[in-house]
Amino acid sequence: MKYITKVAMASLKGTIMIEKIIAICILCVTFSFADDGIKLPHLTMPDNNLTFEMIEGYQDYKIVATHFRTDKNELRYILANEIGYNALKEKAKVMPEGSKIVKIGWSVKKMPSFPVALEADKIQRVEYMIKDSKKFDANGDHWGYARFVKNKGEFKSWDKGVKGCISCHSGVKESDYLFTKMQATFE
Ligand code: HEC
Repeated sequence: MKYITKVAMASLKGTIMIEKIIAICILCVTFSFADDGIKLPHLTMPDNNLTFEMIEGYQDYKIVATHFRTDKNELRYILANEIGYNALKEKAKVMPEGSKIVKIGWSVKKMPSFPVALEADKIQRVEYMIKDSKKFDANGDHWGYARFVKNKGEFKSWDKGVKGCISCHSGVKESDYLFTKMQATFE
């Protein structure tokens, strides 16, 4: 009887142990998924203090347009947070405060199964513009600019300043400094 109880206890302990191990494994898998592509590196733009984390969750923003830069051979997706997306959809003349417009750039490669088709290869940049007239009242455009470039597997903030961004985007002042228009397919 004693022996049977001992065996029963041991197997019960074993079951609890296995349950604990399974629970730990589930936790590990959950965490590794949670980390996958969602946690952004802590990077700050040197001249305006905008951080990469300011667009945390940008992967879930809605697609506004797709572009292809022929000179850089780069595929680009433009996405916007809800405020920005709704304003672009309504063809707002001036984008509202809190609008965030993100641009992601990928290198392209031939699709192995069908080489005349190209597919996205590696992420090369994530950049964004944020409308904040309190912080960015000096430019006249009220947009803050940030660029994070990925090189050899690591993101770095753009260290050549945002003067270039402001000056080139000033060429499209009449559309509130945005080149992007809502692509018809996504309307
Ligand atoms: C020489 C011109 C030029 C410069 C400099 C430039 N951009 Fe742009 N930007 C463009 C053009 C053209 C587009 C639209 C085509 C595309 O997607 O590349 C664009 C698109 C964007 C978009 C999507 C919204 C929009 O306006 O269409 C963002 C965000 C952006 N740029 C951020 C930046 C940031 C941040 C910098 C500076 C670090 C910068 N740009 C510098 C020309 C420029």
